[in-house]
Amino acid sequence: MNLIQAKDLSHSFEHLLYENINLNIGEAQSVAILGVSGSGKSTLINNLSTLLKPDKGIINLNNKEDIYARTNDEILQIRKNDVGIIFQSHYLFRGFSVLENLQVASILTNKQIDINILKKFGIDKLLKQHIGELSGGQQQRLSIARVLMKKPKIIFADEPTGNLDKNTSINVMEVVFDYIKTNNAAMLIATHDTEIANMCDEKYYLKNCTLARI
Ligand SMILES: Nc1ncnc2c1ncn2[C@@H]1O[C@H](COP(=O)(O)OP(=O)(O)OP(=O)(O)O)[C@@H](O)[C@H]1O
Ligand SMILES: [Mg+2]
Repeated sequence: MNLIQAKDLSHSFEHLLYENINLNIGEAQSVAILGVSGSGKSTLINNLSTLLKPDKGIINLNNKEDIYARTNDEILQIRKNDVGIIFQSHYLFRGFSVLENLQVASILTNKQIDINILKKFGIDKLLKQHIGELSGGQQQRLSIARVLMKKPKIIFADEPTGNLDKNTSINVMEVVFDYIKTNNAAMLIATHDTEIANMCDEKYYLKNCTLARI
């Protein structure tokens, strides 16, 4: 079954970014998009992840057909229940501790805090520390852990390891790939890191307004 389905997507800002893009991602499948800066990777992720209605095309997510044809409330429900979005910058509450950040997320998502996920990322001993006392990489791992605790069926990741060193990047992504496989979830990741792209089941290059399989 396809969890992410895009049909004939087109989007422009001042100029055309892409046209008639088709993409299907199934259960337990991960797909990477590569492409030079400015080619439209983040825009495509925003289109697919409920954040930005494309100029043209249809997006189905986890059996919810044509997400942008729905009411704002329904779109918010899909974003909340079906989708986990990992950004390069992490959006943690700075004045709060790690535990408090996870408690807020837990209330919003109705999902328990999962210490095992924190252990897998090596941040389980940091619960009492304030966000400002964490390194950039620790903050990034916490934000990824927080997304996995939502137990989303679909993960969108936009340069998720931009703040991490090479080894940490690979270790962190191994945890995420393991999540995708064991939960039969789907992931689309935009990255400049070819090593991480190679860990995905399929790779595409966004160029000349189209998505080419590589
Ligand atoms: N909200 C917006 N309003 C106007 N133009 C935008 C907006 N968002 C993106 N753009 C433009 O669209 C183009 C694609 O941007 P996008 O962020 O999707 O590229 P990207 O492939 O993710 O690049 P990078 O690798 O640097 O993250 C750029 O020219 C950018 O300036
Ligand atoms: Mg981008």
